[in-house]
Amino acid sequence: MTDWNKIRRDFPITKNSAYFQSAAMSPLPTPVFEAIQEEYRKLHLGGDIKWMEDLERFKNLCTNLAGLMNTEPDNVTFVPNTSLAMSLLALSFQNQFKKPFNIISMKDEFPASTIGFEYLNIMMKYVEPVEGRYPIDSIIEMMDEQTVAVVTSQIQYATGFHQDLFTLGHELHQRGVLFIVNATQAFPFFPVDVIASNIDVLSASLHKWGLTGHIGSMFFTSPSFRERFPSPLTGWLSVDTKGKGIIHTGKNTPFCLHESAHCYNFGTFNLQPLLAFQKALDYIQEIGLQNIQQRIMELTEYLIQGLRDLNVTILSPVSRKEERSAIVTFTLGDKNETCVKRLAENNIYVSPRDGNIRVSVNIFNNLADIDCLLEVLRDLNI
Ligand SMILES: Cc1ncc(COP(=O)(O)O)c(C=O)c1O
Repeated sequence: MTDWNKIRRDFPITKNSAYFQSAAMSPLPTPVFEAIQEEYRKLHLGGDIKWMEDLERFKNLCTNLAGLMNTEPDNVTFVPNTSLAMSLLALSFQNQFKKPFNIISMKDEFPASTIGFEYLNIMMKYVEPVEGRYPIDSIIEMMDEQTVAVVTSQIQYATGFHQDLFTLGHELHQRGVLFIVNATQAFPFFPVDVIASNIDVLSASLHKWGLTGHIGSMFFTSPSFRERFPSPLTGWLSVDTKGKGIIHTGKNTPFCLHESAHCYNFGTFNLQPLLAFQKALDYIQEIGLQNIQQRIMELTEYLIQGLRDLNVTILSPVSRKEERSAIVTFTLGDKNETCVKRLAENNIYVSPRDGNIRVSVNIFNNLADIDCLLEVLRDLNI
């Protein structure tokens, strides 16, 4: 039996608030906070001495992440954020595809998924949601012979709609269309098998569910994707020196990039919090992913029932359990703003999104937190 109260105690934020903003950014549990301090302590005392060792530890982290997604370690690295990940893809497509071509994405996709393509004037076609969900048939109907890729979130940030990546990936694979996934609102709580789902590229910014703050985005690319679309940008750490040290010092001499995803490493990056992320992964895996998923479902179910009892309009598509996530969005119409304010006055934190109220539950929340939130709604006489 998981001791959820013990886990709760690892998150000091729970002492005086009910925090429902993890879909914006999760607080860190104490063991992860201590791990970050420890990494910086080593830097403080030892400077650069351990850098090569730390790079090896970073590779081990990538290996562990790869295992969670059923792929090889060589296919995983980190980039600073999902916006940059998508911009890299946009550059690749601009270089490789002859116009006219288009990309299909979702109407209420978080802009990190789409803005990089629009900026390069790549034609984007947006699927309209049907009662908060994106039916796979609607995505397929929008495709034409000029469609080269579909870009979608695994879990939509505004509604929590959880897409069926397996079925969508199968359909796209059959049609030879690239499958690009933004798993920011899902990973690592809801990891996906990238092979079974035929995913070509996946980016997951980890400041939400990675429990380690702003450490950047895990970036998966399939070997065939990298072969077809060489990185459009590079840097000294991207270069494969073929075992001759790690610095390519030659000028005007030929070089090639790593065949692995490390071609996207470009230059130095902030290793300390990334290394501490291993602690967060261990913490999450010790609780167990299935356990976490069940807990999230238990908490959202309780919230959904409570909202229904109060006749609140739930905007998230919650009728099918497999489409649910940690996010539940609702509206009180013209009382939304007042409600968010009143909640904050009571140390209950939710996110206003698109004029609605987004609640996201995490492993440190409990039913009492949800009762506090429902109590405020009741007092608002909705
Ligand atoms: C679905 C989704 N993708 C990406 C991001 C963040 O994008 P980036 O990593 O570019 O800051 C967010 C929220 O911040 C999000 O909700």
